[in-house]
Amino acid sequence: MTDHPDLQAYYPFSRLGRLLDGLAPGRSPADDGAPILLSIGEPQHQPPKFVAEEIARHAAGWSRYPPARGTEAYREAATAWLLRRYGLPPSAAATGGMLDPARALLPLPGTREGLFFAALATIPRSSNGQRPVVLIPNPFYHVYAGAALAAGAEPVFVRATRETGFLPDFAALDPALLERTAYCTLCSPSNPQGAAASLEQLQELITLARRHDFVVAFDECYAELYNDRPPTGAVEAAAALDGSLDRMLVFHSLSKRSSAPGLRCGFAVGEPGLVDALGGVLQVGGAGVPLPTLAAGTRLWQEQDHVERNRAHYRANFAVAERVLGNRFGFRKPDGGFFLWLEVGDGEAAAVELWRSAGIKVLPGAYMCAEDEGGENPGNAYIRVALVYDRDVTEAALGRIGEVL
Ligand SMILES: Cc1ncc(COP(=O)(O)O)c(C=O)c1O
Repeated sequence: MTDHPDLQAYYPFSRLGRLLDGLAPGRSPADDGAPILLSIGEPQHQPPKFVAEEIARHAAGWSRYPPARGTEAYREAATAWLLRRYGLPPSAAATGGMLDPARALLPLPGTREGLFFAALATIPRSSNGQRPVVLIPNPFYHVYAGAALAAGAEPVFVRATRETGFLPDFAALDPALLERTAYCTLCSPSNPQGAAASLEQLQELITLARRHDFVVAFDECYAELYNDRPPTGAVEAAAALDGSLDRMLVFHSLSKRSSAPGLRCGFAVGEPGLVDALGGVLQVGGAGVPLPTLAAGTRLWQEQDHVERNRAHYRANFAVAERVLGNRFGFRKPDGGFFLWLEVGDGEAAAVELWRSAGIKVLPGAYMCAEDEGGENPGNAYIRVALVYDRDVTEAALGRIGEVL
C-alpha cells in the first residue's frame, strides 16, 4: 500500500473536519442558533415535485441494471437542451452530426463520476515517453487532482488568480510541458471563483489541445447558474470553430441546474471515441444511471421554468451579498455558480473564528488549492462561501461574517 497514491490528498472536507475537530460552534444568526453550513455547495431547496412522480411511475425499472448508454429519450432530451442552451441548429444533433445523441452523448450519474472516470479512460501510461501531465486550474475542484493521481499522471497546477482573471492561461505554459500533457480540465463558470471563459478563451484551449494532442475536459456543471449573461459553453465554442468535438469531453449535470445533487444524473458529450472510452471504463468499474432516475432526468432537461426560478434564487442571494459586503473582502459578483471567493487575510484563521464565534462553517481557500512551484498556496488569503440558503439566512450569515472578520 505504501506507493499507492493518496487520493484524499486534495479532498478539502477531510482537512476542514480536522481543522474544526473538537471546536464547539458558536450560536449562529439562524432563528434557532443552529450552525449554518456555507462550506459545501449543496443546494438547500428542493427539485420540482415531478421528479418524485416520474421516479414512482417508472419504479419497474429498479429491477433492471442501468443500461450502459441510458435511454434514447434521455439522450435526446439532454441533446435538445444543449441545442436550446447554446443556440445551435437542429442539424448539429442529426445522425453523424457533432451532437449526434447516439454517438456523442453518454448519460452519467454526475460530472464528478464523469470527470474521475474520464481521466482513467483516456490518460495513457506515458506521454512522449514520459510520465503524462494533467493540467489543473489552481484553485480547483478536488476530483481533478484525485483523478490525475489515480491515473498515474503528474498533476500540474496552473494559477487562476485575480492576476489571470481567475482562469488558467494554459497557452502560456512551456511548450515542452504541453508536449507531455495528456489531459487538462477547465471549469467554467469556475468553482470557487465563479469566472466564465469567453468564446475566444474556449476556442484557444480547444486549438491548443488539438495542437498538442491532449484531451480537454470541460466541467460546466454551473452552466445554468449565472448573474448577467449566460456563460459560453465549450460545445458552442467548438461549433463556431469548426463543428467538431475532437479531443473534447464536456460535462453537465442536474445537480446544480435542478437542485438535485442526490439524484445523480448528468451526461458527457464529446468526441465519439472518447465517449466510447469513458463508457467502456464505466461499464467495467462504475455504474450507469438507473432507469427511474433517467425518466426523471429526461423531464428535468425538458423543463426550464424551475431553472429560471433556481437562477433567480441565487441572483437574489448575490444581490444580498453585494448590499451587505459592498467592496469588502475583494467582493465581486461572479459570472456564475453560487460561491463567494472572499479575500480575508488568513482563510484558515477566518474559518476557525467564524465557526467558534458565529456557528458559520466556511471552507478555507487553501483547501481548494495546491502549492505552486514557489511553495505558495494561492488560496491562503481566501475563504469560499456557498450562498445556498434562502435570502434571510444568507443575509444574516453574511452580516455576521462582516462583523466577525
Ligand atoms: C466544479 C464542480 N464540478 C463537479 C461537481 C460535481 O457535481 P455532480 O453532482 O454533477 O457530480 C461539483 C460539485 O460540487 C463542482 O463544484
